Amino acid sequence: MRTPVIAGNWKMHKTAAEALSFVEEVKRTTLPADVEAVLCAPYLALPALAEATQGTDIGIGAQNVHWEEQGAYTGEVSVPMLKAAGVQYVIIGHSERRAYFAETDETVNKKTRAALDGGLTPIVCVGETLSEREADQTKEVVQTQVKAACAGLSSAEMKRTIIAYEPVWAIGTGKASTAADAEEVCAFIRKTVADLYDQQVANEVRIQYGGSVKPENISSFMAEPNIDGALVGGAALKADSFIQLVQAAS
Ligand code: G3H
Repeated sequence: MRTPVIAGNWKMHKTAAEALSFVEEVKRTTLPADVEAVLCAPYLALPALAEATQGTDIGIGAQNVHWEEQGAYTGEVSVPMLKAAGVQYVIIGHSERRAYFAETDETVNKKTRAALDGGLTPIVCVGETLSEREADQTKEVVQTQVKAACAGLSSAEMKRTIIAYEPVWAIGTGKASTAADAEEVCAFIRKTVADLYDQQVANEVRIQYGGSVKPENISSFMAEPNIDGALVGGAALKADSFIQLVQAAS
């Protein structure tokens, strides 16, 4: 019932030229129509990527955005700017932004609000650190992040929002969560959405797992009932690997 979303997060990798060569390779393959494939690229590669993917089903996403439409915010990029560049998705509140760039639950909420108002699909990241997991605080942390990110969203807006559950300890470490552990948290996130809204909204919202997903392990995550795709870093940097991930989600 829910269309799976495989989103590659390139983080601070790839020039515009490198991004184009990646997408040309992907375009030589017919991707499955029942999976949403998204490439989240550095800002400077976005216009070229959006142009190169016109007429395809590949979606393009940014990795961050400011909540104001314009103004004296040196170094920032707004939702209308992304829209004008042909972008459809935006990652919000990635743990790297929370850890290194002072992203808070409050700014995540403002950015989510701005993305939805401007017609972008937000991919909102939540997840616990290793010490939080070891202190048995995973559900509490994730629930707080989900509630804060979604504060003020209507049911229709919540349904348009993608939540990415990314345990911080699994990101870039090669130590993915087990599918069963990821499923437990994703099911808990869905229950949190049901409690905040209703079961119908919860049934429609898409929840991805992220953290050391690769072609070898994606099927185990996709087999879980509450995991609707993946947010992938390292394994999405090579076109053949990204293609395999999208195919495995079909
Ligand atoms: O946004 C993607 C995640 O941070 C996962 O990164 O697949 O390299 O572990 P990773």
